[in-house]
Amino acid sequence: MSTQSTAPATSADSAAVARIQHRRTYLMCRPEHFTVSYTINPWMEPANPTDTAKAVAQWQKLYDTYLELGHEVHLIDPIEGLPDMVYTANGGFLIDGVAYGAKFRFAERVPEGPAFMEWFAANGFEVAEPVEVNEGEGDFLLVGDVILAGTGFRSTGDSHRELADVFGKEVVSLTLVDPRFYHLDTAIAVLDPVQGEGGVEHATIAYLPHAFDEASQAELARRYPDAIQVSDEDGAVFGLNSSSDGLNVIISPRAKGFEAQLRERGYNPILVDLSELLLGGGGIKCCTLELRR
Ligand code: ARG
Repeated sequence: MSTQSTAPATSADSAAVARIQHRRTYLMCRPEHFTVSYTINPWMEPANPTDTAKAVAQWQKLYDTYLELGHEVHLIDPIEGLPDMVYTANGGFLIDGVAYGAKFRFAERVPEGPAFMEWFAANGFEVAEPVEVNEGEGDFLLVGDVILAGTGFRSTGDSHRELADVFGKEVVSLTLVDPRFYHLDTAIAVLDPVQGEGGVEHATIAYLPHAFDEASQAELARRYPDAIQVSDEDGAVFGLNSSSDGLNVIISPRAKGFEAQLRERGYNPILVDLSELLLGGGGIKCCTLELRR
């Protein structure tokens, strides 16, 4: 990772630390076949019309934003009949050139697993084929040297053990309890790739406390006393389903409170509207898979 630039100290009363941008490599999938033809989360309502051209245009804005920020974006070809393939975060979880493949919970998405694994192998990643049901970076988030792993709706607890075996890292299991926030990346945003020392300014992660059971809330509070806790209102518009490079945080324009919280901590929020893709229950982070070599 290379250092690009730092955030300017904007106001005199700002206690914010200088943020450092890290260059990222992402995998995305143009939503050419996007539609909502089945229901596997509470956001999906096949009776509501979708506009594929609008989905593509909104997605393009996200893609262009990454390039403008200096990130590298790879593309996987969309497959007809797999409308959820645009949500590449679910395609796997990759660290140090190793790709732990996804094994989807619902039949509608099962064929995506091998399609992504094929792409990883063809692009030089060592693929670890999954035995357990897991939905990749939708449920697994790397924070410093620790992996936060979600369960409750999609990825199983057994996949958390498999994940720990594959990567040899500490895995912290967190239980999601609200069906609207069925993947971990709808309830936690990793803001800083480096685990901070603690202290109010650092704000390594942001999360929605009510999306978790009590034990998980306590675990998050203990590990991240400096975290940004977002309001239910911002959570409900998928404010946390965002992507950060350590300085710039791409978020939904509807997450007004979160936008202000980010500014206070020295981050630079950039607003990108993916309203059409929210009809499928996904947002910015869902459309973004980080490729770590
Ligand atoms: N319709 C997709 C599903 O229910 C949306 C996936 C959203 N992805 C995410 N990383 N949260 O599986």
